[in-house]
Amino acid sequence: MIRKKVDFLVIGTGIAGLSYALKAASAGKVCIVTKSEAVEGATRYAQGGIAAVMYTPDTYEKHIRDTMIAGDDLSDPEIVRITITESTSRIKELIALGVEFDKNSSGRYDLAKEGGHSEFRVLHHKDQTGAEIENILLQRVYENKNIEILENHFAIDLLTQHHLGIDQETGSEEIECFGAYVLNKSNHQIMTVLARTTMVATGGAGNVYATTTNPPVATGDGIAMVKRAGGIIEKMEFIQFHPTSLYNPAEKPSFLITEALRGSGAVLKTFSGKEFMQKYDSRLSLAPRDIVARAIDNEMKISGDDYLYLDARHIDKQVILNHFPAIYAKCLSIGIDITRDMIPIVPAAHYTCGGIKVDEYGRSNIRNLYASGECSSTGLHGANRLASNSLLESLVFSHRASQDAVSRIKSISFNNSIPDWNALGTVYNEEMVLITQSLRELQGIMSNYVGIVRSNLRLKRAQDRLHILYAETEDLYEKSVLTEKICELRNLLNVAGLIIQMAMDRKESRGLHHSIDYPRQYKNF
Ligand code: FAD
Ligand code: SIN
Repeated sequence: MIRKKVDFLVIGTGIAGLSYALKAASAGKVCIVTKSEAVEGATRYAQGGIAAVMYTPDTYEKHIRDTMIAGDDLSDPEIVRITITESTSRIKELIALGVEFDKNSSGRYDLAKEGGHSEFRVLHHKDQTGAEIENILLQRVYENKNIEILENHFAIDLLTQHHLGIDQETGSEEIECFGAYVLNKSNHQIMTVLARTTMVATGGAGNVYATTTNPPVATGDGIAMVKRAGGIIEKMEFIQFHPTSLYNPAEKPSFLITEALRGSGAVLKTFSGKEFMQKYDSRLSLAPRDIVARAIDNEMKISGDDYLYLDARHIDKQVILNHFPAIYAKCLSIGIDITRDMIPIVPAAHYTCGGIKVDEYGRSNIRNLYASGECSSTGLHGANRLASNSLLESLVFSHRASQDAVSRIKSISFNNSIPDWNALGTVYNEEMVLITQSLRELQGIMSNYVGIVRSNLRLKRAQDRLHILYAETEDLYEKSVLTEKICELRNLLNVAGLIIQMAMDRKESRGLHHSIDYPRQYKNF
């Protein structure tokens, strides 16, 4: 068995993990493990951009207000203030690292608008902002001699006193993290990575649903791992469905049609070509996402249609080609010229608003364990995330977590008593169908019973069905030589269980959690 010791263990190579690693590296050796290629993760697919206050007439107060409104007043006002007031500095750092955001002819940043924003404030690199950020961060990480990246290394579980036979209550602040067990996918060995501090930056859990914009790696591993280790998980009921993913049923993940296209004037229409958002919200196609996704869902239920349309035909062709070249090319590749044809769209699971509860320095309740990015719950998003606030959140809290970890690193010791992984009594599972069929069932249950509109009955059904899948998978997990697929299925089931339980516990309709059992009069309807 392989044992490894590092000062800073980072799990995940998206914006949260990489931006943290670059700062932590000033104070010691950093090892980043990532379960696929380093570039893979939600970050590289981010289209619209990153929200930040750059110029007047925008102000921090306006961005704070928009974030609070989108979050349906469930965001933590102090965390919102921290995030927004630190936005400009974090953006300047990104630019200093080499990230290029588009500028207009007067040399100022070309700021876009998205749903719920009262000002133009979204910095972007055409419609491929995430790829630009991910590539630059990776380049800087590769140049840094203090950082090692282990690709195709899957983190299985966090190391705590549990592995020394001492169990603590969930939520206890006595729990300590000593690193992680990590599966090397190339040779199937499980490494014991001992670390002074561990950062979980494993992204979201979109694959708990059948239709998602998230890449396959988004299986909620970090959230499930931290839960198993006794960490506090919160607000999992708030799963954001993006209103406009391209309707192309055979394609997985669903291709996103950025909200910035609506910010540039594209309008939602029914299957028969009629505008409908005036029935739902005075902000029309640019209302916050929870409202737009629910309106689309309602229109589809009324008409029985499989998709609706986004109409961008009236937008100047040059604007489309300059700002949205990837969307133009993608649609054209399936026979849709968006300057002439309407774009068929459906909502798709997009963003996990809740996750590992952390404080203003990204600290979880588990000692020496940080979390940042989509797997975390900082309190910024409340009941619904404001568009393009998540890349920003990752930057702000990875920065703050790195400050805290760097200041403490020398005082933290390794725990050498942690045993190696015990694989005794396990055998290779020859039947992949046991995993793939359970995954399909799970995704069907979540999409049909725990989607955009919920009810007590649907949630109870989902919970009952999930119990069977959970028991079968635990049994298989105990007996199997570990593979990525069985671990991911187990993690997705853990995450699904958290979503359902928290949805059942929320006895109201709020933000992204909308239940027909708790009818609500919406302000703007
Ligand atoms: P990710 O970038 O998803 O990275 C997670 C990393 O963890 C990956 O490297 C993954 O391989 C690794 N990992 C996961 N589990 C394990 C494990 N068990 N072991 C080892 N490694 C593991 N947000 C915005 O603010 N603006 C946008 O314009 C925008 N557009 C988006 C468009 C799309 C299509 C999608 C899907 C999301 C978009 N978002 C946007 C959301 C945003 O991209 C994500 O929230 C953000 O990139 C998350 O960053 P992250 O670092 O937390 O996770
Ligand atoms: C988009 O470009 O519409 C996605 C933005 C986001 O998810 O924040």
